[in-house]
Amino acid sequence: MSEDVVVFKNVTKKYRLFKTRRERLISVFTKRVKYTTKLAVNDVSFKIKKGETVAILGKNGAGKSTILKIITGVSFQNEGEVEIKGRVSALLELATGFEDTFTGRENIYLKGDLLGIPKDEIKKLEKQIVEFAELEEYIDQPIRTYSSGMRARLGFAIYINIEPEILIVDEVLSVGDKQFEKKCLQKVNEVIEKHDVTLLFVTHSTETAKKFCKRGIILNEGKLVFDGDIKEAVEKYESSIN
Ligand SMILES: Nc1ncnc2c1ncn2[C@@H]1O[C@H](COP(=O)(O)OP(=O)(O)O)[C@@H](O)[C@H]1O
Ligand SMILES: [Mg+2]
Repeated sequence: MSEDVVVFKNVTKKYRLFKTRRERLISVFTKRVKYTTKLAVNDVSFKIKKGETVAILGKNGAGKSTILKIITGVSFQNEGEVEIKGRVSALLELATGFEDTFTGRENIYLKGDLLGIPKDEIKKLEKQIVEFAELEEYIDQPIRTYSSGMRARLGFAIYINIEPEILIVDEVLSVGDKQFEKKCLQKVNEVIEKHDVTLLFVTHSTETAKKFCKRGIILNEGKLVFDGDIKEAVEKYESSIN
């Protein structure tokens, strides 16, 4: 049997909602500021085994991104336990996290470093990253001169080429043009098939979800309401939104 690489045990994430940014700031120093609480993820439990492909379905605000952020360590749960095993590569906010004054090439090393990848390993991947991003001409220009599409392409190229063990894709593939999106999806497919990668996929396209994933999890207002076969999940989800 394959081992579990992602485990959520009764995970809850609450956000505090303040009326203004000023009140949020003041709340750091005093308990007197009023706020309401938003339950973004509500007592969610699931286990994902190595090599599984899982689509996370749910309306806007259902808690999909919050779950992915907890997995990548960008966000932290308030309650419950989370276990992650393996190198996580997250296609979340592709165009962000670059150092504007550095060149594209320097940023490849910077990101790689942040992701904990040894320099010699990045060196081996550098060429294929640049090629995949289709940025050969611009790679030695500072990132601040890049369009958001170029940034996203570089981001995707880095994350997909570092051979992730757990790949997280959150609705980001549409940042580039249609053609690049297609190329990205093909690459995701290739990586999954070749390397037994575990995939967590958020997409608005149930067609794409069915193509890439065998299992589907449905979230509704922070609660897990279904976890099972992707076909059944898509049917349930589609009937719930129509
Ligand atoms: N940083 C934040 N501060 C306050 N509320 C947030 C924050 N991030 C998300 N939320 C709220 O948590 C809920 C779940 O958001 P999210 O996980 O982004 O949903 P989804 O990705 O399914 O659209 C939403 O109601 C959203 O408004
Ligand atoms: Mg989201």
